[in-house]
Amino acid sequence: MIKISRLSKNFINNGRSVQIFQDFNLEIAENELLVIFGPSGCGKSTLLNIIGGTEQYAEGVIKGLNNNKSTGYISQRNSLLPWLNVLDNIAFGLKLKGVNKVIRQKKALELLKEMGLVNYSDFYPHQLSGGLAQIISFARSLACKSEFMLMDEPFSSLDFLVRNQLQDIILNIRKKRSLSIVFITHNPDEAIYLGDRIIALSPNKPTGILKEFSTININDKESDDFYKVRRELLACYI
Ligand SMILES: Nc1ncnc2c1ncn2[C@@H]1O[C@H](COP(=O)(O)OP(=O)(O)O)[C@@H](O)[C@H]1O
Ligand SMILES: [Mg+2]
Repeated sequence: MIKISRLSKNFINNGRSVQIFQDFNLEIAENELLVIFGPSGCGKSTLLNIIGGTEQYAEGVIKGLNNNKSTGYISQRNSLLPWLNVLDNIAFGLKLKGVNKVIRQKKALELLKEMGLVNYSDFYPHQLSGGLAQIISFARSLACKSEFMLMDEPFSSLDFLVRNQLQDIILNIRKKRSLSIVFITHNPDEAIYLGDRIIALSPNKPTGILKEFSTININDKESDDFYKVRRELLACYI
């Protein structure tokens, strides 16, 4: 579990300080898929980077980080290595860890099978659609046994159908292993479908949590519950 207490964070832009977070609190449970929802510029990426340890903050305490867990990070941009095929891209993190070639390729292949993507194993990144490249990045993190995944709008540039397929791949993978995910999106349907819980961040600064939604049992996109949460989520921003 991760517990963020009394977090304060500001940026200085052109000599002026902007307070992004002030006394911000958040807990993330073990094996939870937490969605951070909010408008552009509200501080979602900043929060994710603070959680991941790549962004400094002025005040606050974050407990539970680096609990011997390896962290994976997936951004909007494809971060695959262009000179390696899909299999070797997935195996690359294991190579860095010193795992021998036969074992790392076997693991990478197992993951591709699990995701139903084994036909792409010898494709190079330039031959992949944007969506596949994102999910291969995800597989690469999984191969390294990342149990804590930080995902910053990974599917925001993808079309509707691909996006739905990738969401299902993530949900399927989650059923089979212990994996905590913090997932940023500003797409309400994606938030409700994927999330166990959604925090809706405020548009005005310092950014706070306007409302939380428990969506762990809401998976049917046509259900009344789904529409109800959608309405309430969007109502936060009217
Ligand atoms: N490195 C930086 N230096 C100065 N200001 C920044 C920096 N990164 C982000 N900001 C500002 O902080 C705010 C939140 O940014 P960000 O976390 O990227 O928002 P989001 O991911 O929700 O779109 C924005 O107003 C942005 O301009
Ligand atoms: Mg962002």
